[in-house]
Amino acid sequence: MKPTTMLLIYVTLLLPVSILSLPECDFPAIFNFGDSNSDTGALTSMFGEPATPPPNGETFFHSPAGRVCDGRILIDFIAEGLGLPYLSAHLDSMGTNFSHGANFATIGSTIRRQNTTIFQSGYSPISLDIQYAQLSNFLKRSQIIRQKGDVYKNMFPEKYKFASALYTFDIGQNDLTAGYQLNMSTEQVKAYIPDVIAEFTTTIKNVYALGGRSFWIHNTGPVGCLPYILDTLVITAAQLDQYGCAAPFNDVSQYFNQKLKEAITQLRKDLHLAAITYVDIYSVKYSLIAQSKNLGFGDDPFLVCCGHGGRYNFNNAMRCGQKKMVNGTEIVIAKSCEDPSSRIMWDGLHFTEAANRWVYNQIADGTYSDPPVPLKMACHRNHDLRRLYL
Ligand SMILES: *[C@@H]1O[C@H](CO)[C@@H](O)[C@H](O)[C@H]1NC(C)=O
Ligand SMILES: *[C@@H]1O[C@H](CO)[C@@H](O)[C@H](O)[C@H]1NC(C)=O
Ligand SMILES: *[C@@H]1O[C@H](CO)[C@@H](O)[C@H](O)[C@H]1NC(C)=O
Ligand SMILES: *[C@@H]1O[C@H](CO)[C@@H](O)[C@H](O)[C@H]1NC(C)=O
Repeated sequence: MKPTTMLLIYVTLLLPVSILSLPECDFPAIFNFGDSNSDTGALTSMFGEPATPPPNGETFFHSPAGRVCDGRILIDFIAEGLGLPYLSAHLDSMGTNFSHGANFATIGSTIRRQNTTIFQSGYSPISLDIQYAQLSNFLKRSQIIRQKGDVYKNMFPEKYKFASALYTFDIGQNDLTAGYQLNMSTEQVKAYIPDVIAEFTTTIKNVYALGGRSFWIHNTGPVGCLPYILDTLVITAAQLDQYGCAAPFNDVSQYFNQKLKEAITQLRKDLHLAAITYVDIYSVKYSLIAQSKNLGFGDDPFLVCCGHGGRYNFNNAMRCGQKKMVNGTEIVIAKSCEDPSSRIMWDGLHFTEAANRWVYNQIADGTYSDPPVPLKMACHRNHDLRRLYL
């Protein structure tokens, strides 16, 4: 039996038919925290178009849309799935309508504050604690601005929306790569993970204290399957697993995920009114890579769509959209492939829209969630779900 089949049966057994008798949650807003996996324009607002140059955005938005992708990313599919507009970046200062939430994620964000500037290491100054500070400020300021009436009233969420919103999180991957960038060993990286998780826990508690109740938390993906890792770090053939991913780096992701899961179990005990859903993005992404060919993404799951040269069509010094002067004219050297929907990897660190859609379709029904609740049911507490089993 394939592991996915086994998981399906397991989930079906666990999920009582009566869960369907619970009402769907009416999430009026989404507040998202994260990194480049869910930034919808923040880093581009702060640092300009070089953060997401063309051909980013070409497939769906038809021009750069602040996302590192040819089109939509996972948070876009989540918003669509909940019947809400796409989330705007909180830092997008121009004409933005925040009535259905805000996105605090930025490309390069980490959970812990880094001791380097973005110009040195590439990590964003908007770490998770800062994203929380922005939410807190947004809650206060938006209520003051709404009182101005007119157009302002419909641009910012009513207070009740902060309590009934879905709070989504997808962050942690950069905390893992940050240690390797400082030439730490895997043991050294693992040693600081508890500290990273403690920061994460603090933010969840802070959002709860502000009134947030429904939490949808993605674990971190298989970082050892990213062309960026495979190409820039020294990896021996013996360290590659059966699909070609770098096993030691995936072990670190799994270690992080295990600690995150433990922390969430504790948070459910500490925060009685919270509904916290843990979503196993790692397994979804790994299974996508494992089944690349069967799913129509080709023989080589690591082949990058937008890049230039090298084993994976990825060169860290010449990433997607990189330009070069040729005979006095600027031309794009790291261009997009013919058909982005035929690849999993967009730029060596991020997935294509087609891959993101596939990931969304796997997670929306709760198959990869703990507890196994669908996205639209994520306001129901563990406690309420347990009552149904009895
Ligand atoms: C930043 O530096 C401080 C003081 O040396 C250290 O305690 C902390 O762990 C460092 N943070 C990171 C993310 O490396
Ligand atoms: C903001 O969006 C909401 C929902 O889409 C809409 O009802 C509202 O009129 C918009 N506000 C403005 C000022 O356009
Ligand atoms: C890490 O090692 C590389 C290669 O030896 C070196 O170029 C780089 O400066 C080192 N980085 C740090 C932060 O020590
Ligand atoms: C640049 O110009 C030179 C001289 O006109 C020409 O030989 C060369 O092919 C041009 N290079 C490109 C890439 O167009």
